[in-house]
Amino acid sequence: MTKQIEEAAKAIKNASHAIAFTGAGISAESGIPPFRGKGGIWNTYDPIVLDLDYFFSHYTKSWKAIKSIFYDFLEDKHPNAAHIILAEWEKQSILKGIITQNIDNLHQDAGSLNVIEFHGNAQRLICADCAHIFEVRDWVFTELAPYCPNCGGRLKPDFVFFGEAIPEQAYRKAYEASTTCDLMIIIGASGEVSPANKMPQIAKNNHSAILEINPDSTLYTNQITTISIKGSASEVLSEINRLLNIEANK
Ligand code: APR
Repeated sequence: MTKQIEEAAKAIKNASHAIAFTGAGISAESGIPPFRGKGGIWNTYDPIVLDLDYFFSHYTKSWKAIKSIFYDFLEDKHPNAAHIILAEWEKQSILKGIITQNIDNLHQDAGSLNVIEFHGNAQRLICADCAHIFEVRDWVFTELAPYCPNCGGRLKPDFVFFGEAIPEQAYRKAYEASTTCDLMIIIGASGEVSPANKMPQIAKNNHSAILEINPDSTLYTNQITTISIKGSASEVLSEINRLLNIEANK
């Protein structure tokens, strides 16, 4: 692994436009379970509660599941070393930005500014009728399901459900970032959900190098990756960061 860490540090140092593409795995060490694989959310819950049609036709039932999956514990969760290092790299202009599939707000909590929320953000609720946005931090879930205090409409978490389109601006920005980067760092993403999973391929098609950090093999590993490091996000990023700091202090 040491040789790959060195290669990764070199690739990051030499890149002029590096971006990160993150998935649920980067938040695993913050105590948020991923969707798939060991301990995955979809092993316990039926993903149908996030199907747009099902959600509106089984509103209360879906909200009960959604609250326990996404809201009962998210507020106690904090960024881990991986989120913090990416935020530091952005401040140091090592990283231009992050495309994230995550809805947990942990990149933003860590201080990252240029975060493209490909799948939206659980910290917001949107009214299906009047489109008013409510911040979850100001919201008290007294009754399930919740209704809009302004118009009585149904409230949906402002993240992308199955059967729902990707927010246009997020898609456009992610596409643009993927076509202009010269290094994409894929961290904790299984590559199983479309169209998000197309972004690394788009980067590759545009001659970007691809660095992957994941304890397991994914659909990207050895298919489009230039460097693939098997390990946890915080462990591997901390090692790379250590080498970059040594290099910077020489
Ligand atoms: N560090 C890095 N990667 C990890 C770690 C860790 N500590 N722990 C697990 N992983 C990896 C797993 O090996 C897996 O490849 O993170 C990945 C998580 O995969 P998924 O659960 O499929 O998450 P993601 O790729 O983000 O899923 C995409 O699926 O249900 C939807 O909308 C949801 O955005 C989500 C999308």
